[in-house]
Amino acid sequence: MFKPTAHKKIGLLFASLLLLTACKKSVDEKFGNRKVSFNEDWSFHLNDSIVDKDTIGTSTKWRTLDVPHDWSIEGKFDEKSPAGYGGGSLSGGLGWYTKTFKVAAEDSTKITSITFDGVYRNSEVWVNGHYLGKRPNGYIGFQYEITPYLNYGDKNNEIIVKVDNSKQPNSRWYSGSGIFRNVWIETTDKLHVGQWGTYITTPKVTAEKALVNIETTIKNQYKEDKKAKVTTTIFKEDTKVTSVTQDITISANGNQIVKQSAEVENPALWSDEKPELYTAVTEISLDDKIIDQYKTTFGIRDFKFDLNKGFILNGKQVKIKGVCMHHDLGPLGSAINTRAIERQLEILKEMGVNGIRTSHNPPAPELLQLCDKMGFIVMDEAFDMWKQNKTKYDYANDWDKWHKQDLIDQLLRDRNHASIFMWSIGNEIPEQWNETGIEIAKELAAITRQYDKTRPITAGMNPPVNMNIDDVTLQFEKKNVSINPLAGSGVLDLIGYNYAHQTFEYHLKNFPNTPFIATETTSGLQTRGYYDAVSDTIKKWPVSWDKKFEGGNPGNTVSAYDQVQTPWGSTHEATWKVIKKHDFLAGMYVWTGFDYIGEPTPYEWPSVSSYFGIVDLAGFPKDVYYMYQSEWTDKTVLHIFPHWNWKAGQTVDVWAYYNKADEVELFVNGKSVGKRSKKGDDLHIMWRIPFEAGTLKAISRKDGKVVLEKEIKTAGNPSQLKLTADRNTIKADKNDLSFITVDILDDKGTIAPNANNEINFSLKGNGKIIGVCSGDPVSHESYKGTKHTALAGKCLVIVQSGDKSGRLELTAKANGLKQSTIVITTE
Ligand code: GAL
Repeated sequence: MFKPTAHKKIGLLFASLLLLTACKKSVDEKFGNRKVSFNEDWSFHLNDSIVDKDTIGTSTKWRTLDVPHDWSIEGKFDEKSPAGYGGGSLSGGLGWYTKTFKVAAEDSTKITSITFDGVYRNSEVWVNGHYLGKRPNGYIGFQYEITPYLNYGDKNNEIIVKVDNSKQPNSRWYSGSGIFRNVWIETTDKLHVGQWGTYITTPKVTAEKALVNIETTIKNQYKEDKKAKVTTTIFKEDTKVTSVTQDITISANGNQIVKQSAEVENPALWSDEKPELYTAVTEISLDDKIIDQYKTTFGIRDFKFDLNKGFILNGKQVKIKGVCMHHDLGPLGSAINTRAIERQLEILKEMGVNGIRTSHNPPAPELLQLCDKMGFIVMDEAFDMWKQNKTKYDYANDWDKWHKQDLIDQLLRDRNHASIFMWSIGNEIPEQWNETGIEIAKELAAITRQYDKTRPITAGMNPPVNMNIDDVTLQFEKKNVSINPLAGSGVLDLIGYNYAHQTFEYHLKNFPNTPFIATETTSGLQTRGYYDAVSDTIKKWPVSWDKKFEGGNPGNTVSAYDQVQTPWGSTHEATWKVIKKHDFLAGMYVWTGFDYIGEPTPYEWPSVSSYFGIVDLAGFPKDVYYMYQSEWTDKTVLHIFPHWNWKAGQTVDVWAYYNKADEVELFVNGKSVGKRSKKGDDLHIMWRIPFEAGTLKAISRKDGKVVLEKEIKTAGNPSQLKLTADRNTIKADKNDLSFITVDILDDKGTIAPNANNEINFSLKGNGKIIGVCSGDPVSHESYKGTKHTALAGKCLVIVQSGDKSGRLELTAKANGLKQSTIVITTE
């Protein structure tokens, strides 16, 4: 059998791990984890020389790496990539992963399973030569029991994973390729809680008391019946709240669902503002000895989607201010990293976002855990297509065989998450317009209700008048064609429409019995930091959706004033104004929170990443971020733009987003150029003024008193680099990240808004540079390199810790500019 030489031989000492963790304090630590990470030290080989798993040893092109891993992000952008510009012009291919490992002798009486949280796509797995199975869907987690095939003690085991993402295109956006989510080994007693084995619901919730129902699936893999005790203890943080015990007899090789109920007094309710969580610890005892422990995080909350009042959470009306997100993490590609997801969510939370739509697939489990903790209202989406494909080799080809299992697994995996409030069974499914679609929807809805009745089912559908053409309202009224066949079928609990915000106001007329959510909105387009200085000259998309955004701007830029949109979408302001106005509109999910790789609408090659984000690919907010912040948060906001580096005398539109003030006055070099106030439902104000180098200053006032002041200065020539880390101390755990922003400044410290210098990075210490990015959709430089060209005076570099504590010293250099160094401590 093949033995890759680069592999470290790791003894998986599960028993001692459990012992170690049992001594510690928090619930998390006290009850340990049945699963341990299986991410380290895989061997990887891409493409060509391996024909099948038996010829694996013939190649010398192996390299060692840790997963999560995305090989596509390491490749070159290529106009001819079969993935197309939709897929980010990066390549798929066929990849092989192998790993050798040992399993402690004492585990030979136990059950061992391997769990993959997601492998894109068509994974096939072998352990010690035994074929475990295939999983086409790249986004769903799956588990194989490997007990019968293992060697115990000193003898090695070998796992081989084949990942086939060679048939392209198979996605409308950048998918990434490989074992791009976490891998776990789980060791349990033969009597144990099954995979995704708990289902916790809170059917009755008041301020005084909550009823908690716990259904636990117990698996007995002993050859004889077992009498056992099942105890579920509920903890709030580390304090025990209540506990229930039940005696069971479970038959040999049987499964049993144990139903328990508990009451929690004065429950701490989960909300987007205060995401309170509980932990249920299930313990199975055999002969008074605890043989299995299983933890479930859950939340207590009461909610409904009301026909007239929208989304009601714990008795309070809450507008869903959400964004859609694809799964890639910008320069990190699709290889998940918890801190990278957390940073995205922090940036969005700061803007006032309280909802995430996992477009258009089940997300990494870590995203949902973070949404639970941080307070996001999640729409968990299953599919972007059903039987009918959108790209040639997509999941539609696997639909018949796999959709049922994939959906069930998503429901079982995700249904305890406090943050999930609706299931979406599909996005813009071509079959939404015909009978086939209604039949499929019925099947999917029935499956969903079988596994979870506590959340409504929706889908991202298109209103029949779904284009944002000028006379849409007129057409709509004339033809009265507001009802999409799937929406009108009665299958869904919640009508979810994508775009055509003008039709939203007619919702109650057309659907007098079903509440509404704007599943996807806006699709505004912007390049961060780029401005056509006068709005009248901005290159807009022709109103008709079937015409291309022709010509465009030099360098495939799109002006960052909120005025450029797809014909099917709207400006950011337009849709929000409608959603804000009507209580019955539960909320919206803007397309998108962050830019993502692929789908570079309105352009094609050489653009390779999207323009839709409110935040760019590197995580730098575009200006419209502050429009939302002024509307969606309690923060006091005053944001003015564009930059102040123009030609003398050039006419420039200056916009301001502000709140908590009744006017804003603008000054150029100390001279007032006028006061402006928002009128009616305005969301910004504007001055059209001639440029004069110096200082642009805005002052917002309320009742004559100054609320905020903001200044933008004309920058001189780029002269120096400045590094700022989001965190200067990170964990020495080989996973943690420091996101370091590079600003290009003039000699006085003003950001040079047009600087696009190439920056070179070097790192000293036990860590590595794992991503560089400027947010420029046209850049073809590798995100995995150590140099990158800045966009609009900014660039990002991502540093990852090693496993040793100490100092990481990052230096940034650029020709003609003063270099800069920053120290990150790892501990
Ligand atoms: C929608 C679609 C999204 C994305 C978006 C771009 O129709 O659901 O996945 O393609 O358009 O505007």
